[in-house]
Amino acid sequence: MNTVTVIEAMGDNYIYLYPCGENNVIAIDAGDAGAILRSVKERSLQLKAILLTHHHWDHITGLEELKRTTGCEIIGSDPNRIALLDRVVSDSEIMAIGSARIKTIAAPGHTSSSVCYLIDSDSLFTGDTMFIGGCGRLFEGSADQMWKSLNKLSTLADDVKVYPGHDYTAENIRFAGSILSTALPDSTKPSLPSTIGWENANNIFLRAGSDEVRTALSMANADASSVFCELRKRKDRF
Ligand SMILES: [Fe+2]
Repeated sequence: MNTVTVIEAMGDNYIYLYPCGENNVIAIDAGDAGAILRSVKERSLQLKAILLTHHHWDHITGLEELKRTTGCEIIGSDPNRIALLDRVVSDSEIMAIGSARIKTIAAPGHTSSSVCYLIDSDSLFTGDTMFIGGCGRLFEGSADQMWKSLNKLSTLADDVKVYPGHDYTAENIRFAGSILSTALPDSTKPSLPSTIGWENANNIFLRAGSDEVRTALSMANADASSVFCELRKRKDRF
């Protein structure tokens, strides 16, 4: 089993290092070059590549320094808004970097070009699309787009591990508790990573189609995408 290194950066961002061969790693997102370089150096690792989930500054700010100091390959989906991309990916691409097998999953909603990465069929890096117990804000996409993106992720195997781009877990659990009396208590601290199975059972946004959530929002006859839209609006005001 591959051990993922979690780097906490800039308050609530998560950056990850995924092993791809002896002493080689891939970074997922790159908001803080110093934090990545320290972590890599401490363990005498080589940064081979960076996978970017989307173009927001807190996910890409370290790119220039990381490229200059390591020569790593930079991979992402949005060449118009991310300079320095060596490889541009779209939906459902399969790539190998060293020993890691990577599949891209386009996930518009938070931004129009957001992408998630499934590595070795067992680790999913969701950027700002899915958080533990939550989902990203709709900066560019529609609620229906985000709902479809989340649904694509939710159909992965239950034991796929979920590594999100931010730690918003406590707030997401409080929000679910404000909607559902049966939600997890505020004191719940799910571990990082969570899993697709945990998210399907507990993430209120993924449960927008359930009778329980529809009833709680007095939307018994609404379709799941509309219920999701209402949940997202409420969370924006929460
Ligand atoms: Fe973002």
